[in-house]
Amino acid sequence: MLWLPATTAAMARHEIKKQAFGMTDSGEPVEIYTLTNANGMEARIMSYGGTVVSLKAPDRHGKLGDVVLGYETLDGYLKNSPYFGAIIGRYANRIGKARFSLDGKEYTLGKNNGENTLHGGFKGFDKVIWKGKEVKSKDGVGLSLSYVSKDGEEGFPGNLTVTVVYTLTKNNELKIEYNATTDKATVVNLTNHSYFNLAGEGSILQHELMIDASRFTPVDSGLIPTGELRSVKGTPMDFTQFAGIGTRIDQQDEQLTFGRGYDHNWVLNNVTGGLALAARVYEPGSGRVMEIYTTELGIQFYSGNFLDGSITGKNGQVYKQRYGLCLETQHFPDSPNKSDFPSTVLKRGQRYNSSTIYRFSVK
Ligand code: GLA
Repeated sequence: MLWLPATTAAMARHEIKKQAFGMTDSGEPVEIYTLTNANGMEARIMSYGGTVVSLKAPDRHGKLGDVVLGYETLDGYLKNSPYFGAIIGRYANRIGKARFSLDGKEYTLGKNNGENTLHGGFKGFDKVIWKGKEVKSKDGVGLSLSYVSKDGEEGFPGNLTVTVVYTLTKNNELKIEYNATTDKATVVNLTNHSYFNLAGEGSILQHELMIDASRFTPVDSGLIPTGELRSVKGTPMDFTQFAGIGTRIDQQDEQLTFGRGYDHNWVLNNVTGGLALAARVYEPGSGRVMEIYTTELGIQFYSGNFLDGSITGKNGQVYKQRYGLCLETQHFPDSPNKSDFPSTVLKRGQRYNSSTIYRFSVK
């Protein structure tokens, strides 16, 4: 028999391991799943919020580092989390004035962000327990999470059955596949809210970003899209070529003022229905590269402007402003109130499908 040191043996295969991770305030048990691949890459995902708790990817010297923000224990997530790593739904991003009409009926939602609804309302999919099941596919190891959102939950119509499958592939990708069905017409927009820091710590202003989008959806002061699709040309929103995130973030610009930095939806160029490259991030210090492929039409780039140093996360790190960045693949914000935007309506008998891949490599 071939002898391998314990660490190498564990790293040599794809595996998924389940452990207890504590309890919610109402006494529901929470599990955490550790997915590993043969390259040593590791993703830890918990059943509360379907949250990516940690994601370890190699730097240019092969050294693994955790590239997402969050807490070491469940407690932090229960007490105060700005959606760290969570699945967002039923409607990711904002719905203006916390209401929309569908089939002639008006629905009222929770105003959890000024006058508006953000990320599904007061208790969105980031704050519920998902039912986990280990799955194996030819791509790698996976975790299937499901949740049934009841008719009327947070004001949304229809019983919505949602499944999200996370797969850690052999090619250092974290793949997320979302699908949902409903028994009554509703609106759906699902995403993941991981805060990335490819250096593993500190500010993200040195990260370089490319977004394959020639237009974005400008917003009002409440971060609700005005309805316009505006060219990025000649503005600080132009990431068609790699640009340092910090180079233009403090420019005098109405859109940057409204977001306190970047907090906008980009209209992706390459919308094929299949997976297409949406964005690429490069961190020069570690050499880490993250590419995002998606079937979605839009991507919200949020530069962590509301982090303010009040959260101490993993390894005692204090998360200051712009210490993490989110790239949330999605349909456009406030689509339920914007008839010109691609529809987010899901009808009975239809299936919602959306896939996103975060691929890690080095340069
Ligand atoms: C989103 C929003 C931001 C902010 C964060 C959470 O991505 O667009 O404005 O609310 O979530 O802090």
